[in-house]
Amino acid sequence: MNFDTHQCTALITGASSGLGAEFARQLAPQAQGLFLTGRRLEALEAVRAECLRLNPTLRVELCATDIATDEGRGVLLEAVRALDFQPNLLINNAGMGDYGTVQTATAAKLRAQMDLNMTALVLLTHAILPRLKKPGGILNVSSLASTLPLPAMAVYAATKSFVSSFSEALAVELATEGIVVTCVCPGPTPTSFSHTARRPDGEDTDRGGQGILRIPPQQVVAEALATLRAGKACVYPGLGVTVAACLFRHLPRALMRRLLQRRFSRGTV
Ligand SMILES: NC(=O)c1ccc[n+]([C@@H]2O[C@H](COP(=O)([O-])OP(=O)(O)OC[C@H]3O[C@@H](n4cnc5c(N)ncnc54)[C@H](OP(=O)(O)O)[C@@H]3O)[C@@H](O)[C@H]2O)c1
Repeated sequence: MNFDTHQCTALITGASSGLGAEFARQLAPQAQGLFLTGRRLEALEAVRAECLRLNPTLRVELCATDIATDEGRGVLLEAVRALDFQPNLLINNAGMGDYGTVQTATAAKLRAQMDLNMTALVLLTHAILPRLKKPGGILNVSSLASTLPLPAMAVYAATKSFVSSFSEALAVELATEGIVVTCVCPGPTPTSFSHTARRPDGEDTDRGGQGILRIPPQQVVAEALATLRAGKACVYPGLGVTVAACLFRHLPRALMRRLLQRRFSRGTV
């Protein structure tokens, strides 16, 4: 089953920057309506202005709220209902990471990753499903990190592993319901992600070996939308990321741990 993004009505989380804003920009010329959410209203307004420049007849609704909390998700769902916005596409894009070991992390940041990357994604999907017009689509943003246990990003990688597994199961559950579920697993992409993930005294993620995996957000989003349109379950955007994902998924776990241990000891993971 294919998904046609022409004249779509899309609800996009994390639309105030990075990949979410790019999803809005790439859908704007062909969409009928966009519902953009994130916590920063000013940033959402800037993305709306860009979308309207691309398509002056587009309907663009905004809701600034923290979807990592029950209250914040309630605000979003109420706004969707009150504005009578009927999405046929849900893009679960909002997410965050944390660079550093579990031992040295704050409990707040460990929790924030789990609340946003997993709980918000599942509960929003569950709440939006009854409103999702058919033929419909759900596009979940996971990560290349979902394919391996990642020291110094342990919780982040585990949450993305959850997203990939959840998406694949959901794709099967909804296949006969007229809803396509696609999971996109980007590698390192230049957005605000690093800024949020970096600790006040910590290292950036621009580490050895990542250069060949890095592709622009425009390409990540274009490949994600092409995969959704084709009705496929999963994509690793970029050739380097596709090859890396294949390697990571097929390497014997004991060997993987040994390699990761070596990189971790050198401080290059
Ligand atoms: N960039 C990468 O290297 C990379 C690689 C693989 C996967 N990803 C995934 O791609 C997705 C998008 O990230 P990005 O790279 O575009 O990073 P980004 O530029 O930091 O964007 C994150 C988005 O999430 C929103 N957000 C964060 N916390 C939120 C909360 N509590 N409630 C509501 N919205 C919240 C942010 O908006 P506000 O700040 O306005 O709330 C922002 O719009 C994430 O799921 C990330 O895990 C990124």
